[in-house]
Amino acid sequence: MCGIVGYIGWREALPILLQGLKRLEYRGYDSAGLALLNGSIISVIKQKGSVSGLEAATVTLPEEMRNATIGIGHTRWATHGEPSDQNAHPFLNASRDIALIHNGIVENFSSLKQELISQGYIFLSETDSEVLVHLIDRIWKSDSRLDLESATRNALRHVDGAYGICVISSREPDKIIIARKGSPLVIGIGTGEYFIASDAAPIVEHTNKVVYLSDGELAVVTRDGYTVKSIENIEQAKIVTELDYSLDKIEKGGFEHFMLKEIFEQPEVMKNVMRGRVNPEKGLIHLGGISEYLDRLKQAKHIVICACGTSWHAALIGKYLIEEFARIKVEVDYASEFRYRNPIVGVDDVVILISQSGETADTLAALHVAKEKGALVMGICNVVGSTIARETLCGMYTHAGPEIGVASTKAFTAQVVMLYMLALSLSKGRTISHDEIALHLRELSCLPEKASRILELDGQIKGIAERFRDANNALYLGRGYNFPVALEGALKLKEISYIHAEGYPAAEMKHGPIALIDKDMPVIFIATHDSTYAKILSNIEEVRSRKGRVIAIANVGDGEVSRLTEDVIFIPSSSAPLSPLLTVIPLQLLAYHSATLRGCNVDRPRNLAKSVTVE
Ligand code: M6R
Repeated sequence: MCGIVGYIGWREALPILLQGLKRLEYRGYDSAGLALLNGSIISVIKQKGSVSGLEAATVTLPEEMRNATIGIGHTRWATHGEPSDQNAHPFLNASRDIALIHNGIVENFSSLKQELISQGYIFLSETDSEVLVHLIDRIWKSDSRLDLESATRNALRHVDGAYGICVISSREPDKIIIARKGSPLVIGIGTGEYFIASDAAPIVEHTNKVVYLSDGELAVVTRDGYTVKSIENIEQAKIVTELDYSLDKIEKGGFEHFMLKEIFEQPEVMKNVMRGRVNPEKGLIHLGGISEYLDRLKQAKHIVICACGTSWHAALIGKYLIEEFARIKVEVDYASEFRYRNPIVGVDDVVILISQSGETADTLAALHVAKEKGALVMGICNVVGSTIARETLCGMYTHAGPEIGVASTKAFTAQVVMLYMLALSLSKGRTISHDEIALHLRELSCLPEKASRILELDGQIKGIAERFRDANNALYLGRGYNFPVALEGALKLKEISYIHAEGYPAAEMKHGPIALIDKDMPVIFIATHDSTYAKILSNIEEVRSRKGRVIAIANVGDGEVSRLTEDVIFIPSSSAPLSPLLTVIPLQLLAYHSATLRGCNVDRPRNLAKSVTVE
């Protein structure tokens, strides 16, 4: 949520900042802006709308600012104050010698603002962020012994809430001050140049060496290096991490949208999640990131999985898998609820946090609650080095590669594969025989090829989307392992096409949603072969008899379902526990095509942003 970039070095900062902002635009696209520093001058250019709009506006910048070799940039996801030119970052102090960008929420901004106004400060925006620049200004001016670093540090001591900030000043023109609490920041290390960003995407084309800032840390970045200190001013030793992804992974690679590219990457992603972790022939699983804790995990009285959005849907499938295979009781909680409801969790319990980004504010807060209560905390994250990955005691990376599309697709399938392997690991030597595990792993290893076959149905799915593109509502129904998939299908449709959609366990339809069914209501059934198949057929009949328009996902060769509707997407069969990995793919494509046919920008759905780092 909100993207931050910064550059200090020997090259022109402007093109680096603009390119960086484009790479971060998935974090917010309400407005974009940048500040360039050259000697005693700071120039700010900012406006509502996209980075390409900002880029066009930079033609007005004078030559000396184009030559600037220090700058900071921001792409905004609005919290306080509507998307507008005034509310765009960076913010300047009145004497225009300090510029600041911010990601996060200053929760006590209102009282700070009143105090600053009473001291004569004038605010030009409605944002919470603007208080930070005036606060630094006031503190710096109040004591001539202070420098930009100490003024920023002192200012942050007054701030409640979350922040990732970059600050520059023409009074100390050869440095960028950065600080984080709750909102991620990464420093990319070049030769005589340094890059700052909210995540690695803008950095990867310049260097693969990065340092992740931790919460409560502040860094001074110059052309000669960086020093990281705690907010209490104690120097921190930092580890340089090598990024393991390349530029092609964050580009569209010939696809029209990142979302479509990521949907099509899923067969490869499934293989990557399994790589080096399973040996189907020998029936072996080795999950290195949790091996040290596996016995404790197996002895858990109770597992709680916390997540948000799509990751929460994967968590729900995880519950079904772990309970069925490992026979351990699993509860799934929205991270945002868990954190505030004084959950019953203790030292004998395990709390698993699932997050693609590893930065989601609610999931991170749930992690802190679980830690305080003494539970063993385990993470399943995609972004390497992310905060949740670093703060959990043990965990596993999903290795899905960077997910840029705001609508999560490949991260979901990677999470489900991971949970499948986890469930089998927890069962090993306890509830399932070695031969059964080998059988499950062999089936799992066939999934990528089956997923590829589903992707070949893209044209047919687009045809179905064409017939339903004008719908205002849709109902997604599934049972058992495919109930969470129904929720996920509905979420995908609503977030990118703005068609109102609901997911339900199919049997619940008769307890209410059936009242909605008429000739205009598409009802998407997941009707693959499992123990509830016959009941689903009855549900389809119930919808048909009320003139609802049925779309079904069924297994290849299913004559029963094709008798009930002509809109059937036939997918290869699998065991019920693995079926979500296949049934979700047509639903992702259905949402994608419905949205593009309605003219929606699927990579930038309105009001949304990737990585929700605010509450
Ligand atoms: O990065 P996370 O997995 O923690 O993100 C959780 C949700 O914000 C995310 O899944 C969101 O719901 C997506 N827009 C779904 O497509």
